[in-house]
Amino acid sequence: MQGKNVVIIGASSGVGYSTAEILGAEGANLFTISRNEPDFPPSLQFEHFSHDILEEDFPAEALPEKIDALIYCPGSINLKPLRSLSAQMFREDYELNVIGAVKAIKAALKALKKADGTPSIVLFSTVAVQQGMAFHGSVAAAKGAIEGLTRSLAAELSPRIRVNCIAPSLVNTPLASHILSSEERVTASNNRHPLKRIGEAKDIAQTAVFLASEQSSWITGQVIGVDGGLSRLR
Ligand SMILES: NC(=O)c1ccc[n+]([C@@H]2O[C@H](COP(=O)([O-])OP(=O)(O)OC[C@H]3O[C@@H](n4cnc5c(N)ncnc54)[C@H](OP(=O)(O)O)[C@@H]3O)[C@@H](O)[C@H]2O)c1
Repeated sequence: MQGKNVVIIGASSGVGYSTAEILGAEGANLFTISRNEPDFPPSLQFEHFSHDILEEDFPAEALPEKIDALIYCPGSINLKPLRSLSAQMFREDYELNVIGAVKAIKAALKALKKADGTPSIVLFSTVAVQQGMAFHGSVAAAKGAIEGLTRSLAAELSPRIRVNCIAPSLVNTPLASHILSSEERVTASNNRHPLKRIGEAKDIAQTAVFLASEQSSWITGQVIGVDGGLSRLR
């Protein structure tokens, strides 16, 4: 990724942070956007623009002239029975997961088209779209929309720009800390996975880097499960 311009929305924690660490070590030029500035080690060079993606307008000035990869990380895990999920909560999850990504992609399209090769957009879904999981109604609905968006935009933007999506199972990041709040919960979560462990941010980040790079130049419109086998194995 030496010299490639990569925009990461949400590199201040979790998967986005780990993705930035790998890309930075590979020599990519990093442009990060989130509310908080990432606390990277001093060796990692990056340009940060502080912005809340829930604001109406996306800050076009945060983007470079040419973009080789755009990675949209913000997401939610709002697990509740349907009786406790208001229509407003569904709207908020949709706004962050889907509309935020749409705003970022629309703002970046011109710069993506200026890049050589097959520039890449990487989005995030969840294992809970493929496998029905109780209490996941709101997040599964929003991420299901991301999977539809992935395939539709991949068709629309082909052959110029690739669009793919990663569907993780439970990953040890700040977003999942409320689910992993005790040793018993971590053990139970590990045991639910065929590979007998939950994910680490790096497990997902390595796939994001692959999808962002030319190594995946013949892959578009895919939803890739990175989930310890949970979505496919009994
Ligand atoms: N962790 C899991 O178990 C899991 C499972 C399935 C799917 N996923 C999906 O994987 C993706 C990455 O998750 P993660 O666990 O790495 O999440 P995370 O640790 O919460 O990181 C999310 C990043 O997005 C940024 N962000 C959140 N809200 C934002 C806003 N309103 N405006 C701008 N930036 C915002 C955060 O930065 P600031 O707070 O600084 O703004 C942060 O850098 C998400 O789409 C998530 O839904 C995660």
